[in-house]
Amino acid sequence: MKSKIMEPVLLIVEDDDVIRKTLSEVFAKKGLKVLSADKGRDALEFVKAHKIDVTLLDLKLPDMNGLTILKNMHEVDDSIMAIVVTAYPEVKTAISAMKAGAYDYINKPFELEELKLLVDKALETKRLKSEVEILRREKGDECVFLQTVGSSYKFKAVMELVKTMAQTPKTSALIQGETGTGKELIANAIHCLSDRKGGPFIKLNCSAIPDNLLEAEMFGYEKGAFTDAKQSKKGLFELADGGTIFLDEIGDMDIKLQPKFLQVLENQTFRRVGGIRDMHVDVRVVAATNKNLASMVREKSFREDLYYRLKVMVIDIPPLRERREDVMPLAEYFIRLNSKSFGEGIKKLSTECRDILLKYSWPGNVRELKNIIERAMILAHTDRILPEHLPRELVDEISISVPSYHETNPVNTTLEEVEKAHVMRVVNSVKGNISQASRILGIARQHLRKKLQKYSLSS
Ligand SMILES: Nc1ncnc2c1ncn2[C@@H]1O[C@H](COP(=O)(O)OP(=O)(O)OP(=O)(O)O)[C@@H](O)[C@H]1O
Ligand SMILES: [Mg+2]
Repeated sequence: MKSKIMEPVLLIVEDDDVIRKTLSEVFAKKGLKVLSADKGRDALEFVKAHKIDVTLLDLKLPDMNGLTILKNMHEVDDSIMAIVVTAYPEVKTAISAMKAGAYDYINKPFELEELKLLVDKALETKRLKSEVEILRREKGDECVFLQTVGSSYKFKAVMELVKTMAQTPKTSALIQGETGTGKELIANAIHCLSDRKGGPFIKLNCSAIPDNLLEAEMFGYEKGAFTDAKQSKKGLFELADGGTIFLDEIGDMDIKLQPKFLQVLENQTFRRVGGIRDMHVDVRVVAATNKNLASMVREKSFREDLYYRLKVMVIDIPPLRERREDVMPLAEYFIRLNSKSFGEGIKKLSTECRDILLKYSWPGNVRELKNIIERAMILAHTDRILPEHLPRELVDEISISVPSYHETNPVNTTLEEVEKAHVMRVVNSVKGNISQASRILGIARQHLRKKLQKYSLSS
């Protein structure tokens, strides 16, 4: 996505000095950036060094045949729109030019107005093509329904909510979760499971675009809305019409832009920057954040009305450490995925490895697990993944936080001693709160009191 608004670039290739200079002036006045060459070789140098949108290409040049230039240009950049200028109305030349990939042709002598119209048309076609390209890319990447893996009841509850949401095509949603929990994946699932799946799925990361450009990116702009707005442009809301827009990191949206966003959520209408016409779109908005919006509201960096509007449908994705049953299915899923892309057999996790993965705290959540599995598969040269293939900090964290059974309990320990040590640990961990400790231990309070008396721990 372009983050800077740039003027279109026109390359004039013409050996007649008067025509070249006149056309250069005319189109520069129209707001285009104009480059000009009087030889084919120079023209090709420009094509290599600049991003050209449209070229006016004279077919008769001193050093090269125009059709050869056209072919060479397209080898460098096949999106250049070429308008071929033929010296006389010879149908054959025009046809060969079109066959060679020219966008259109014009005969000399031509009316300036006719040429201007042709250039405008070429620019508009190019713009539409690139919009379609964006859509294709977005759809191609995202509408492949990415598999969601998870068997914990917490993750299943998330998926139930996703399915319910998918059936209400207009409801917007706010997805909350720590980094790497799968917010984008869930947004994709909402789109792909809904009737909107045939429409576009457009992503926008609010923190990736400078505040002053975000409004134009979201809502588009009219020609002349600001200095750089040489032509009008659709925003992502218009491009997402009929589909879903995923606004990531919504907590980073400039507070000044929030009322306009709230308005689209409420009635699906907005105006382009500098526009006077209300635009209506049919778009589902899915927003995501890993920030605490409630505290941002308290600090007045997020609007309260927008927060309550978004809160109508919240999907909370729990961190991985709170749904450890998902760790193994996910790890095995990532092993299968990598085996496929590495073109090798499926590796197995050793028991020690499983143990470590199950106990680790996963601050980076599913993304961290995915990366760790990929790394381990690269490091493991046999079909087994061992603890030595896991990052050091993982193994360290486990050995520090959970001393192994063997370390804490030598073989001659009695059951009573083990129980006493465990009860003590639990009671200490809740600072002597009997109700809490009895809940953790799964025994009645009186029962715990008796044990404490027995072990003389009641004080
Ligand atoms: N339940 C899941 N099943 C399969 N893959 C998952 C699951 N959850 C997350 N992933 C994968 O983990 C990676 C991270 O997920 P995603 O990008 O959706 O997280 P996120 O919450 O948007 O992260 P961030 O806050 O950093 O943007 C992706 O490759 C995603 O496909
Ligand atoms: Mg994300």
